[in-house]
Amino acid sequence: MGGTLSRYSPFFFFLMIAAVFLILHNIHFLERFNSEPVSCLRPPQPRINNSSVINTSANLTSRTYLHTLPPELQSQKSCPHVGQQPTPEEAQEQRTLLDSIAWPGPPRLEVPVNQSSDPAHSYFVIQPPVNASGQATTWRVGGKLEVLVHMHDFLSRPKSYGGDFLLARIRSVQLGAGASGRVVDRQNGTYEVELPLLWAGAAQVEITLVHSSEGVGVLRRLRKEQSDRVYFKSLFRSGGLSETTQCDMCLPTGPGKAPLCDYTDPQTGEPWYCYKPKRLGCNRRVNHFKSGYKKNLLYPNESLLFTSSTIQIPVKAQGMDHITILPAENGQSLVGQDQSKFVPSGYYHQGSWRTLSGVPIKHFNNPAAVKQCLKGKLFYLFGDSTVRQWFEYLTAFVPEFSLRSQKNVGPFLAVDSANNILLTFHSHGPPIRFNTLQSSEIEYVANRIDALRGGRDTIVALSLWSHFSTFPVEVYIRRLRHVRRAVARLLDRAPGTLVVVRTANPQITDPNYSLYNSDWYSLQLDTVLRAMFRDVRGVVLLDAWDMTLAHPTQPRLLHPAKEIISNMVDIILSHACPVKQKG
Ligand SMILES: *[C@@H]1O[C@H](CO)[C@@H](O)[C@H](O)[C@H]1NC(C)=O
Ligand SMILES: *[C@@H]1O[C@H](CO)[C@@H](O)[C@H](O)[C@H]1NC(C)=O
Ligand SMILES: *[C@@H]1O[C@H](CO)[C@@H](O)[C@H](O)[C@H]1NC(C)=O
Ligand SMILES: *[C@@H]1O[C@H](CO)[C@@H](O)[C@H](O)[C@H]1NC(C)=O
Ligand SMILES: *[C@@H]1O[C@H](CO)[C@@H](O)[C@H](O)[C@H]1NC(C)=O
Ligand SMILES: *[C@@H]1O[C@H](CO)[C@@H](O)[C@H](O)[C@H]1NC(C)=O
Ligand SMILES: *[C@@H]1O[C@H](CO)[C@@H](O)[C@H](O)[C@H]1NC(C)=O
Ligand SMILES: *[C@@H]1O[C@H](CO)[C@@H](O)[C@H](O)[C@H]1NC(C)=O
Repeated sequence: MGGTLSRYSPFFFFLMIAAVFLILHNIHFLERFNSEPVSCLRPPQPRINNSSVINTSANLTSRTYLHTLPPELQSQKSCPHVGQQPTPEEAQEQRTLLDSIAWPGPPRLEVPVNQSSDPAHSYFVIQPPVNASGQATTWRVGGKLEVLVHMHDFLSRPKSYGGDFLLARIRSVQLGAGASGRVVDRQNGTYEVELPLLWAGAAQVEITLVHSSEGVGVLRRLRKEQSDRVYFKSLFRSGGLSETTQCDMCLPTGPGKAPLCDYTDPQTGEPWYCYKPKRLGCNRRVNHFKSGYKKNLLYPNESLLFTSSTIQIPVKAQGMDHITILPAENGQSLVGQDQSKFVPSGYYHQGSWRTLSGVPIKHFNNPAAVKQCLKGKLFYLFGDSTVRQWFEYLTAFVPEFSLRSQKNVGPFLAVDSANNILLTFHSHGPPIRFNTLQSSEIEYVANRIDALRGGRDTIVALSLWSHFSTFPVEVYIRRLRHVRRAVARLLDRAPGTLVVVRTANPQITDPNYSLYNSDWYSLQLDTVLRAMFRDVRGVVLLDAWDMTLAHPTQPRLLHPAKEIISNMVDIILSHACPVKQKG
């Protein structure tokens, strides 16, 4: 036996060498083979280039450039500085945006939990109505309701500093009415809330402590120190070989770490990297997916700030929590003359949303009306699952054509060939947390917009916010800048294209999940989003925040209920098919 083997061993040795050579050659070949999908529907794919494997011995690591960042950004692994070069105006805008979302925090870093804000010991007081000269009056439609919130700690002592995150609304379940309020932090433990009076009849005030000031401090710490607390991965495959590696907007590199595959988008410069698989080339990426959430993010002293009795808790009233609103006095409009008065974008009455600015809303409450409006139109939906909800709603009217896409992920297509209607949904690019996006579907919204013809028969709806909550705000500003530039190019080459940008919305979350998706993160991004698109002519900002917060009966959900979605779609269709002006 042994003798036979040893007689043949030179032959086996040769075979082995040949096999190894073949495998190496194949890997080499696969790495070089650069298949490029040809499609008339999509812009050219970013070309994955072999030399884009980064040499980790060289100083091209995230650590290096971090030395040039301000100290508060130095521990990040999220490449906030790259992407298309901002113009001087855009750089100035970024500073202004960051200033505008500055949030006051506790004066000291370490606050014992018993000195943090406790919703159970806090209360609000409805202020008696006064007119402009401070005289006692009555609550009337067109006026406002003022409320003072007094925050106390767990020892029942008044708080002496601000930074608590409160949401306020006024509603009447019987009337199907609701509106959001404005909260002003007086920075001394009290908060001034102003609520608009928009309907006659009963109204109840609701104040919610979303996070204590101390809780917000923790969220801010996490965003700064743990911007990689949602994990991403990609599967690579070729022939019988497959490997999965970690991916992110930036990845730590250096000794002991694999080299990187660079998937930075050539058009926008949006960064994305994966560790290179050991045996496969970077162009063998099959998909992108969220692989999980980093756990144990809190110090023991912080965990009490994130429990079901400390976040998203109603603050109770001292005295009454409801009022009666009288009809307007003659000549008083809903919005009023007072420039300092808070006016929301709209409110609910009898379950339907009424705007206080912009085009009048028409209700498209039967299939014929929806189809009539969409007839001859191309409707592109790009973004996250909150814009996908509109697609799902509309497929009750326009039949979906199965692309056999993975559930929830897309791409999705709906076609009504009789009426010449096309609807599509595509997800936005990384850091999308979908499971599982195929490589062919990884694309940035800006590039998708650049691939559109546009025109009066085209509607583009965009939603990007939720999946950016764990990253520094600079990352979000950069992404929106790229999208806004693409929108400007679209409106330039095809004036009359309807572009709808959906804002963020509040949601009731599990305390642990709030560490990744808190309303505080959403509000910060939402403020930036509104400021960046507010003055873009031809763009409609759809106020999903208020539409979710103000609804009198539906809970605040990441994916708002159908009663809210139908009102949102009415707004879009009212812009696409405006009421004909008389005369
Ligand atoms: C690949 O990337 C390198 C470095 O970024 C660049 O110099 C080269 O021109 C690229 N090659 C192709 C074929 O795109
Ligand atoms: C990687 O970078 C180091 C330092 O710049 C250099 O000495 C080395 O030759 C590079 N290796 C490769 C494979 O390019
Ligand atoms: C890399 O950066 C470090 C610190 O900035 C420096 O000391 C070192 O010389 C650099 N190495 C190379 C190869 O440039
Ligand atoms: C909790 O403890 C950590 C570590 O000791 C400290 O850095 C942090 O400031 C503390 N946080 C609070 C809210 O006291
Ligand atoms: C509040 O918490 C601190 C730190 O845990 C503790 O030393 C102090 O005794 C507590 N105060 C009261 C009144 O419970
Ligand atoms: C406020 O109310 C008082 C008493 O009703 C009235 O005399 C005064 O004119 C009112 N002022 C304004 C600005 O409406
Ligand atoms: C808080 O500040 C406001 C104005 O900034 C002041 O009117 C109010 O009296 C202060 N309240 C307390 C309790 O200090
Ligand atoms: C939240 O996380 C903590 C610590 O990981 C765990 O003990 C707790 O059960 C979790 N709560 C929920 C509601 O999942």
